[in-house]
Order: sequence, then structure tokens, then C-alpha cells
Amino acid sequence: MGHPQTWDPERYARNARFVAELGAPVVDLLAPRAGERILDLGCGDGVLTAKLTSMGCHVIGVDASAPQIDAARRLGLDVRVMNGEALDFDSEFDAVFSNAALHWMSDPAKVIAGVQSALKPHGRFVAEFGGHGCVAKIRKALVEALNRRGINGEAANPWYFPSAEDYSQQLTRGGFVVSYIALIPRPTPLPGDITGWLETFSESFTSTLPPAERPSYIAEVREALRPKLCDAKGKWTADYVRLRFSANKRG
Ligand code: BEZ
Repeated sequence: MGHPQTWDPERYARNARFVAELGAPVVDLLAPRAGERILDLGCGDGVLTAKLTSMGCHVIGVDASAPQIDAARRLGLDVRVMNGEALDFDSEFDAVFSNAALHWMSDPAKVIAGVQSALKPHGRFVAEFGGHGCVAKIRKALVEALNRRGINGEAANPWYFPSAEDYSQQLTRGGFVVSYIALIPRPTPLPGDITGWLETFSESFTSTLPPAERPSYIAEVREALRPKLCDAKGKWTADYVRLRFSANKRG
């Protein structure tokens, strides 16, 4: 993997508000009960953390991005900067929840071990993230446009998109009993031109280039994707695939 992704809360709010808005199914799968202690893993700017808090749960949010944690703190939430691959909690949560974050963590065994330690006996781990095939067309266009510039595009890919079988095995090996896991294709309408999505989510690719070359790289990727992801009315849809699961810590 090349350069890390960073987050600008304002740009994220402008281009990626749909990420939290489309989080309703995984919140339903969590079925939070008032009074439960919940860890929101990869809480970002805290929109879903706030939703769980408003349902009467005691929620701690963690995220590796200091600017996103600052934005979440401005909502009055209990949040901390913490790497999801180095969680530091001990048997204190009824549930660990995560939306649209686990695909940014390339070592699932470390994440699952940290979640296992954070949960009380029989506690649940309920999450949704990018699954096998997620943004395959976008990724291919990003990789190929770097390759054309003599850069190894695949080496810049930051995303971990496992199959249901792979992740189920990881969870079982990590001490969980999986009660539900499914790969769900979810073509996702974007709020505007795909340029906003590329600027928000593909920094690992763009940052391999000098700043002056990034706008033309993004424009080239956008034009490669136009016939695949943009309809006749100019509406862009990203080729998302979700992996959604619920698992319990073995007692
Ligand atoms: C996702 O939520 O699936 C996703 C977000 C950004 C990049 C890739 C995937």
C-alpha cells in the first residue's frame, strides 16, 4: 500500500453524507437497546454515533483520523483517536458497531482480536463495510490510469474487500460465532459528479502523483468511468457492494 488516506471533515460532509444516511440497515441489525454500552469502531464525524446515543445507548466512538474525531467531538460525543488495528479496551462493551470503516483496515486479524477483547462475554460485533467486488470499476480505472503513468496502481490500493466466506472464517478464527453474514450489491447514487467521490476517497492513489498532476489524473479516471457509471441524464452511481454481518463473542 502506498500513501495513507486522510480526511477533511468539510469535504467529507459535502461528498459523503450518504455513507451515514445509508447506514440504517446495519443499525437495525445491531438492534441497540437503551442503556447498552456500545463501541462505534471507525466513527468518522460521528453522525451514526450520535444516532446510537439518541437511542439511549452509552457510546464511545473511535477513529484513526484526528480531524474527524474533532468534528465528532463538536457534536458533544465521547470520542477518541484510536487505530482500529490497536484497540485498547477490556471486556467493557455490550456491542461493537462499525459502518463503512473496516475496509480501510488491512489487517482483519488485529481488528477482530481488538474487538474480541473489547466485548463482554457473548457481546455482539455488528458491522457493514465494502465487500468483495466493491467499487471494482472505480478501482480498475484508478489503477489503470496510474499504470499508464508508469506507477504500480495496484500497490496504491488501500482497500480490503473480503468475501463473506473469507470474513466469516476470520471471525470464527478470532473467537466469534457468526449468526448472519451477506454480500449485498448496493449501487449507490452519488450526490454529484464522481469527481467529488474521487477527491474524497482515493487519496491513496492521487497522492502517488505530484500535486500539479492530480487534477488531470482525476479527470482521466472520471472520463474512463463515464460510460460505465453515468446515465444519460448525467447522474453518477458508484458500484458499491456491502458485506454486512452479526457475530457474537464465544463465551
Ligand atoms: C465503501 O463504503 O464501501 C467505500 C468507501 C470508500 C471507498 C471504497 C469503498
